[in-house]
Amino acid sequence: MKTEIASDVLLDVQNANVRFDVGGGQIRALDDVTIQLKRGEALAVVGESGCGKTTLARVVLGLQTTTSGAVTLDGQPVVSPKAGQAKRVGMVWQDPFASIEPLWKIRRILDEPFRLNGMTGDIEKIMNEVGLDPKLADRFPHELSGGQRQRAAIGRAIALRPPLIICDEPTAALDLSIQAQILNLLKDIQRDTGCSLLYISHDLLTVRYLCDRIAVMYMGQVVETGPTEDVFTNPRHPYTKSLLESAPSLETLGQLPNPVEGEIPDPKVVFTGCKFASRCPKATEHCKSHPAPWDERGSHPVLCHFPLDSAT
Ligand SMILES: Nc1ncnc2c1ncn2[C@@H]1O[C@H](COP(=O)(O)OP(=O)(O)O)[C@@H](O)[C@H]1O
Ligand SMILES: [Mg+2]
Repeated sequence: MKTEIASDVLLDVQNANVRFDVGGGQIRALDDVTIQLKRGEALAVVGESGCGKTTLARVVLGLQTTTSGAVTLDGQPVVSPKAGQAKRVGMVWQDPFASIEPLWKIRRILDEPFRLNGMTGDIEKIMNEVGLDPKLADRFPHELSGGQRQRAAIGRAIALRPPLIICDEPTAALDLSIQAQILNLLKDIQRDTGCSLLYISHDLLTVRYLCDRIAVMYMGQVVETGPTEDVFTNPRHPYTKSLLESAPSLETLGQLPNPVEGEIPDPKVVFTGCKFASRCPKATEHCKSHPAPWDERGSHPVLCHFPLDSAT
C-alpha cells in the first residue's frame, strides 16, 4: 500500500537544486539531487571535494535553502531549522568544534539538547554510550583528545534519539587508529538505536564497512546509486570506477590515495553534455553535447550514456 511505502522512507530529497551566485557566474552545488533514506538504513554520500556533499547535509538540516525541489524528513517538509530540530536529526561535523560549543564543559554540551526541549538528560548514560569516561564531564573540549571530542559531538547528536544522524566526514581529521574506533562507535549506535545514518565521506573503505547503500556525487549531481556491495563490485559509472581505483585498499591504508585522473572542471561552467565527459575515458562526442540520462537497465541506476556494463 502506498502509505506504508511512504512511512518507510525517513528522508526524502526530491530534485533538489542549490545554486550559489559567485563572481563570474553561478555554481550548481546541487543539481537535481534525488535521494531517499529508509528507516534504520545507512546511506553513504561519496565524491571528491566540492561535489556538493556538505551542501546536501545543510539542505537536510534546513540551513541551506533550495532553489527548487522538495525535502521531507520524518514526514515533515524541511524549510528551516526549527525548535525541536535535535529531536529529528543529529549532526556530526568533521571538526568537532563545529558540533560542540568550545567554551562549555562536556556536561553542559551534552545537556543542551535536553535543556532546549525542556527535558533533563542523563549525562552519565550518554557518556557511557559514546565511550567517554563520565569523569570527563567537567572538562572543556580542548582538554580532550580529538577522538574524545568527536565522541562528545556524537553524544550530543544522539542525545534526543533522533531518527536520523548525519555525519559529514566525521573521521577525516582523526588519526587512523582513532578513525576505526569512531566508525565502530557509529556502527554500534546505529545498531542499538535503529537510527538512519547519512554518512558523508570521500573515504570509500569506511563506507563499505558502514553503509547499506551508496550515492556517488560528481559536480552537484548524484551519478550512481545502489546497494554498497553492488556498487563496489559492479560500478556502472566510469567516475565511480576511477574513485574505487583511487581509493586506498587495506594494503595501501595510510598512504595518500591516487587522485582520479584529470581535473574537476570550474564549478561555474555551464554544461551542455555530461559533466564527467572531460575526464571520462569512454566519452564520445555525443556525451559532450547531450546531458547524461538515467540508465535503469542494470543492477542499479546510473547517470551515464554508456554505462560500463552496457554492450556499447
Ligand atoms: N556559501 C557558498 N557560496 C558559494 N559557493 C559555495 C558555498 N558553499 C559551497 N559552495 C560551492 O559549492 C560547491 C559544493 O560545495 P560543498 O557542498 O562544500 O562540497 P563538498 O562538501 O562535497 O566538498 C563547491 O563548488 C563550493 O565551492
Ligand atoms: Mg564538505
